[in-house]
Amino acid sequence: MKLPFPGVWLAIFCFIPGFVISAPPFPPKTVPVLIKKSPLDAKVETLLKKMTLEEKIGQMCQFHPWRGADEKFKSQTAEGKIGSFLNVFGAKETNAFQKAAMNSRLKIPLLFGLDVIHGYKTIFPIPVAEDCTWNPDLIERSTAVAAKEAAAAGVRWTFAPMVDVSREPRWGRISEGSGEDPALGAILQPARVRGFQGKNLSDPGSIAACAKHYVGYGAAEAGREYNTTDMSEMTLRSIHLPPFKACVEAGVRTLMSAFNDLNGIPTSGNVHTIREILKGEYAFKGFVVSDWASVEQLVDHGYAADKKEAAQKGVIAGVDMDMVSNVYGDNIPALLKEKKLSMGQIDDAVRRILRVKFELGLFDKPYAEEEKESAATLTPENLATALEEAEQSIVLLKNEKNLLPLSREIKTIAVIGNLADSKRDPQGSWNCRGEESIDKVVTVLDGIKARVSKETKVLYNPGVGTSSSATDLVINEAVKTAKQAQMAIVVAGETQDMSGEAASRTTLDLPGRQEEMIKAIKASGVPVVLLLMNGRPLTIPWEAENIPAIVETWYLGTQHGTAVANVLFGDTNPSGKLVVTFPRSLGQVPIYYGQMHTGRPVDEAKPNEKWHSRYIDSPNSPQFPFGFGLSFTSYSYSNLRLSSRTLNSKGQIKVTADVKNTGAMDGFEIVQLYIQDIAASITQPVRKLVDFKRVTLRAGESQMVEFNLPASKLGFYNGIGKYVIEPGKFNVWVGKDSSDETLKDSFDLINAPAALLKK
Ligand code: NOJ
Repeated sequence: MKLPFPGVWLAIFCFIPGFVISAPPFPPKTVPVLIKKSPLDAKVETLLKKMTLEEKIGQMCQFHPWRGADEKFKSQTAEGKIGSFLNVFGAKETNAFQKAAMNSRLKIPLLFGLDVIHGYKTIFPIPVAEDCTWNPDLIERSTAVAAKEAAAAGVRWTFAPMVDVSREPRWGRISEGSGEDPALGAILQPARVRGFQGKNLSDPGSIAACAKHYVGYGAAEAGREYNTTDMSEMTLRSIHLPPFKACVEAGVRTLMSAFNDLNGIPTSGNVHTIREILKGEYAFKGFVVSDWASVEQLVDHGYAADKKEAAQKGVIAGVDMDMVSNVYGDNIPALLKEKKLSMGQIDDAVRRILRVKFELGLFDKPYAEEEKESAATLTPENLATALEEAEQSIVLLKNEKNLLPLSREIKTIAVIGNLADSKRDPQGSWNCRGEESIDKVVTVLDGIKARVSKETKVLYNPGVGTSSSATDLVINEAVKTAKQAQMAIVVAGETQDMSGEAASRTTLDLPGRQEEMIKAIKASGVPVVLLLMNGRPLTIPWEAENIPAIVETWYLGTQHGTAVANVLFGDTNPSGKLVVTFPRSLGQVPIYYGQMHTGRPVDEAKPNEKWHSRYIDSPNSPQFPFGFGLSFTSYSYSNLRLSSRTLNSKGQIKVTADVKNTGAMDGFEIVQLYIQDIAASITQPVRKLVDFKRVTLRAGESQMVEFNLPASKLGFYNGIGKYVIEPGKFNVWVGKDSSDETLKDSFDLINAPAALLKK
């Protein structure tokens, strides 16, 4: 019998009562790939030799400055007992703590971490929106702005990007990731790593990135936050790991272990995922920080009998730094004495942490420059990047009879819904230092007022909000306002705190009485444009059927209102495409384009026939598919060509298609390349995204779009986690979204090696 995952067996064996292994050695596959010797290693080793045990453990402990405890923390820092803080920010504040570190025996600088997720003070669109740009260069630029603003405030480490793939819209954190697709995540997330970390980590504007939450967190059962996850090794490798692997390849310096239990082993105590895959197979040289007390929570998971055993399991698994709980500080000395941990394991963790501190240049330049801090934030350039990204993040979902764009000469326009007048909501759930830049936020109402002609009257009514207790009177008032106008712009959706961490929902409907209000306004005869403002896919079947124009605006950050108005009035042609499927109803969840086949697919010719994999009360198809997004112009796709009908396992083919802007407005089109492995030794998804191109097309212009498709992209992870490429027939599509069947062809992969091919 094959024992596929030695770490799992080792972990089980180590903790069978009566079988306590003293100072467990790493199993052969899990020996940390130790860092080739370099001048930096020499510095790390020299310092490590000088450190006492207490100082070493100190580097493995991160704290949050609980209110009133600053002085206690400063004196512990001066004693060398603390290596990092989170949530200390501002040049003056970080410098005050750093001064304590500089008073310590070895002057090892503190590393300050903060959740700089989509901006520091200049707030960019929430990540799921940013990713609807399908524009890695722009994402890299905006992330670099966030890094510069944070670094000027002494924060040289962010807990971002969140790279969790999720197909679970009930889960509030779907707002923080790249959506449902591993391949897209593996392209877009490394752009964030490059943006944060810059060309050189020691540049004063660079900060260390942290790919999180390692791993599988986005698969929380029932979409309930922090809930357990259970998946095959194949699903782990093919869906959840690819963006992490891509970030490691892009040089990410840190990873965060997650809160979730994964196949019975919580991820913050998981030898297989951290030691074997991350530090072994991927040769990751940076360090792993736990999520907030997630090592201590091994006890709550029922995976450790007490905090001491939790600390032991955290260290053995390879969690190098503990966030806030101090289980390492409290327990490592005794665990070493009892030979339940070895000094080699501690040194491995400390080396990794010191290395990142050296790479950041903190030993040479521990302090932030207080006089430069405010000049670095909210600059006109930063705001211009935020506007560019906000515009590209908007997804036009419906535009019947070209209702949009609107004329700015419109006589009276009604703006309905209190989200339109909110400065807090457009900043999303992780607004970082956004409260200090709240005045800079342009609301939808501000944006519209600034864009219409001087003669236009803009009426506003807050409507029902998201509360279910709004009265009929409130709805009637909203209708009254709408009726006075030629057009009603209804802003509906979720408040910013309804998505993000700890914000799971059991329905995806518009909260409260918003839909009733929209129906009443529509019934009054006024044409309605619906602007959605939300952090997850919503179910809006009635609106999709009955409202002529629908725009997904997400939370777009500081420049929200300007970007929205630029689209509404046609200054900007929308180009965003969805990175997550919008279901028709919650009953369809999980629903994603890359689903597996079934043995009984729906017969297209007889879609209502029984005995097929379908619902009796709904089509299988989503409301809006992955990759979907309209424009004010139209595009035609034609002439799909393959450079060859066959390729071998080392070869590649060129896939080309002509894309034409057939409308009257210039635009950007996101052209997508999908494949399907028709028959394989393990069944494969009905489609997989492999590449995309973002092309600029002037009105009437046609362009040939070319993709290189190498055989290395045609493989999959098999049941024991190996990447294999098998010979056989493949379908290929070039199209505007994941459901586009217009351009389809096929080719054969021949001579694939019999041996497993490792990527
Ligand atoms: C818990 C969250 O899960 C994580 O994403 C975040 O970085 C930490 N808290 C620190 O704030």
